[in-house]
Amino acid sequence: MSHTMKLCPKLRNAYVCVISIIVILVSVAECSGVQYQAISCRKHSAVLTDFGAVGDGKTSNTKVFNNAIKNLSKYANDGGAILIVPPGKWLTGSFNLTSHFTLFLQKGAVILASQHESEWPSLPVLPSYGRGRDAPGGRFSSLIFGTNLTDVVITDSCTNTKIEDCYIVSGDDCIAVKSGWDQYGIKVGIPTQYLIIRRLTCISPDSAMIALGSEMSGGIKHIRAEDNIAINTQSAIRIKTAVGRGGYVKDIFVKGMTLKTIKYVFWMTGAYGSHADSGFNPKALPKITRINYRDITADNVTYSARLDGITNDPFTGICLSNVHIKVSEENKKLQWNCTNIAGVTSNVTPQPCSLLPQKEGQDCPYPEDKLPIDNVQLKTCSFK
Ligand SMILES: *[C@@H]1O[C@H](CO)[C@@H](O)[C@H](O)[C@H]1NC(C)=O
Ligand SMILES: *[C@@H]1O[C@H](CO)[C@@H](O)[C@H](O)[C@H]1NC(C)=O
Ligand SMILES: *[C@@H]1O[C@H](CO)[C@@H](O)[C@H](O)[C@H]1NC(C)=O
Ligand SMILES: *[C@@H]1O[C@H](CO)[C@@H](O)[C@H](O)[C@H]1NC(C)=O
Ligand SMILES: *[C@@H]1O[C@H](CO)[C@@H](O)[C@H](O)[C@H]1NC(C)=O
Repeated sequence: MSHTMKLCPKLRNAYVCVISIIVILVSVAECSGVQYQAISCRKHSAVLTDFGAVGDGKTSNTKVFNNAIKNLSKYANDGGAILIVPPGKWLTGSFNLTSHFTLFLQKGAVILASQHESEWPSLPVLPSYGRGRDAPGGRFSSLIFGTNLTDVVITDSCTNTKIEDCYIVSGDDCIAVKSGWDQYGIKVGIPTQYLIIRRLTCISPDSAMIALGSEMSGGIKHIRAEDNIAINTQSAIRIKTAVGRGGYVKDIFVKGMTLKTIKYVFWMTGAYGSHADSGFNPKALPKITRINYRDITADNVTYSARLDGITNDPFTGICLSNVHIKVSEENKKLQWNCTNIAGVTSNVTPQPCSLLPQKEGQDCPYPEDKLPIDNVQLKTCSFK
């Protein structure tokens, strides 16, 4: 086996053979297997094309995905199943996942989202939202959707609440972290927490690389973002909230961002508005605190920062260290526009606003411990 491994260059988690015909003929039996890392290996497997899928980028595969996953759902209590998406462009609308299931995208497999609204069924509202975010009385289901699932893995494009090595081009935020809307979210009260985002590359000309909110009424805490890249994107990590949201965004740790062509490197908005209905409590103020950013380089930037807290509810504990921003039109605009915020900076250029005084030699904290999701032991699984 060892000589075979050498012939198969490691591409992420899959071993793919790119060697001469002669060698393939000799070693095909050992080499054709694909290996992947997963929490649990699946007993059953199927390929999307078994179900009639067409990967031409034009044919809709919505029914195919749903049928395939429905077919495989019967193995949930019999060792689980993996659905292999082979190389190709697989156009589809929303489809539902199932439990004890792995969606495995082979190298060269691209899932394209359908542009037809009919392929995006409307779902009942979430209790934590009160009404649909997209329309009163309904919300569109996500591209890859599921509820009440256990043990689901999407391999090679993200895993669990650890989102790693993704490349996202979006007309909205690349990743949006949320936890409920105004009085409905406060009532349900379930935070989003212990999320880690690593090595994301994002292009989002009109939105953020990572948005926290604006629906954050159940709270958002213990979020880590490491070594992420944004290109031609409106803002890097944006906190969006409003009077009436309640909840909190706290203990946010960002380390390592490379940004190119960005409108705002730092953007926090306390006046996002956008309410579920008029029944929100104007006294429910969100608490935004302990927001830490370090080791950031940004090039071709319009504004360094727009940090806009709430009157009588300032955003506190903001820390920025080792940040180097090259603005595209230096001194022409108010580079740091700060209201109702408090924090410190260290080794930041251009010079921040007076509400973020310098405290030299002090790096912003980044936790050294691992999150529970990082301690999950992955097994090496394979299929032919
Ligand atoms: C779906 O599952 C059944 C077994 O229950 C199997 O016989 C059938 O071939 C599967 N369908 C496809 C398209 O693979
Ligand atoms: C997907 O799940 C939702 C919520 O359970 C359900 O309303 C919808 O009908 C499902 N879609 C399909 C195609 O099964
Ligand atoms: C999900 O689980 C909850 C609680 O067990 C239940 O009330 C709800 O109906 C389930 N939803 C779906 C779509 O199965
Ligand atoms: C710099 O950013 C502007 C938009 O603000 C964009 O039009 C321009 O192409 C960018 N320049 C480079 C060299 O990327
Ligand atoms: C600064 O931010 C405030 C609050 O968001 C805004 O009203 C104001 O227009 C901004 N000023 C400039 C010069 O951009």
